[in-house]
Amino acid sequence: HRNLTVLAVESSADDTCAAIVTSERQILSNVVLRQDSYHEAYGGIHPYVAIEAHQRNMPGAVRRALEEASMSINDVDGIAYTRGPGIGGCLSVGSNAAKTLAAALNKPLVGVHHMQAHALTPFLTTPVDSLPTYPFLTLLVSGGHTLLLLASSPRTFRTLATTLDESIGRAFDKVSRMLSLPWSQHGPGAALEQFCMSGPTSDPVEAESEERGARSQAELEAPHIPLPMRGRLAFSYTGLHSTVERFMHARGGIIDEHTRYAIATRFQMAAVGQLEEKLALGLRVCRRKGIDIRHLVVSGGVASNMFLRQRLRACLDGASPDVPISLIFPPPSLCTDNAVMIAWASMQRFLAGDTDDYTIELRSKWSV
Ligand code: KG4
Ligand code: ZN
Repeated sequence: HRNLTVLAVESSADDTCAAIVTSERQILSNVVLRQDSYHEAYGGIHPYVAIEAHQRNMPGAVRRALEEASMSINDVDGIAYTRGPGIGGCLSVGSNAAKTLAAALNKPLVGVHHMQAHALTPFLTTPVDSLPTYPFLTLLVSGGHTLLLLASSPRTFRTLATTLDESIGRAFDKVSRMLSLPWSQHGPGAALEQFCMSGPTSDPVEAESEERGARSQAELEAPHIPLPMRGRLAFSYTGLHSTVERFMHARGGIIDEHTRYAIATRFQMAAVGQLEEKLALGLRVCRRKGIDIRHLVVSGGVASNMFLRQRLRACLDGASPDVPISLIFPPPSLCTDNAVMIAWASMQRFLAGDTDDYTIELRSKWSV
């Protein structure tokens, strides 16, 4: 087939992104304008703030993507954008930009499913001799998603488990802030991981209680953080940080270093423990249905957590001792929201001539 060059834009949540990618897996540019600092005060994405920031930043992001690729818009073969799911007003900024460019330049247009794009990223980033083979599982763990997906073909995906309330990334952020952990350039979640690594490897409260003989949980100066919804294919993360919040509140927010450390390690253990449990459950469900899984792709901001990486490796070895399951982590810059994955996910459709009308609507809610 001929080599295609696609310009894509992404604006489904709080990052304004534009990128240029070729069908030969070359990333010619990747522009991501983050908005985190605007939303921090709201404890989540504020839709109006996000929409306004996308409106301010999208034209400049497209301009920069072309400049970084040293290209003129006329050299682009197609325009791709995120059709959904996401915040309607945010999606419309990228969608209008893409459609107007496509119509004005008379180029083909493809609207992409954001989650499918995340799931297809390893086909762009993994060396060609170790690409995942269908069917495979994808675990998407970030500030926006906590999702276990089954990918059966490039266009057939099923959600095995999603979060019923909050994402794992937001829970990490909240607990990290509650414990007033030192700042990390990779965000509060990474700060919590670093804090856990800075102390002894075992749970300090339990180690101490063993020394002093058995004590009841109520006497231990750290909360027990339970795993919610055992045995169900669904995630829940609000219970984890509200347990920590109640514990802190009862002490007027004053805790010693020892307790802070115990809370951080127990939270991380419970947050990752929940992923392990659902992954093992998902693998059992697949096996029961005769679906042979050989690859797990883990992406999203939380995937850079080393404790998570070790535990998932051990979990796969335990769940499938006979047939090895490979673990694939795309590079962090392409695990978080970006337009490279949108361009890449559109590629097969451009190559097949399967493009969209300029009149297609957004799908802010869109099952995978
Ligand atoms: O994918 P991402 O960069 O963007 C959004 O989804 O917005 O994910 C960001 C999330 C944040 O919640 C951040 O605290 C978390 O990923 N995160 C981590 C680590 N690095 C980033 N959580 C735990 N451990 C880490 N090392
Ligand atoms: Zn995303």
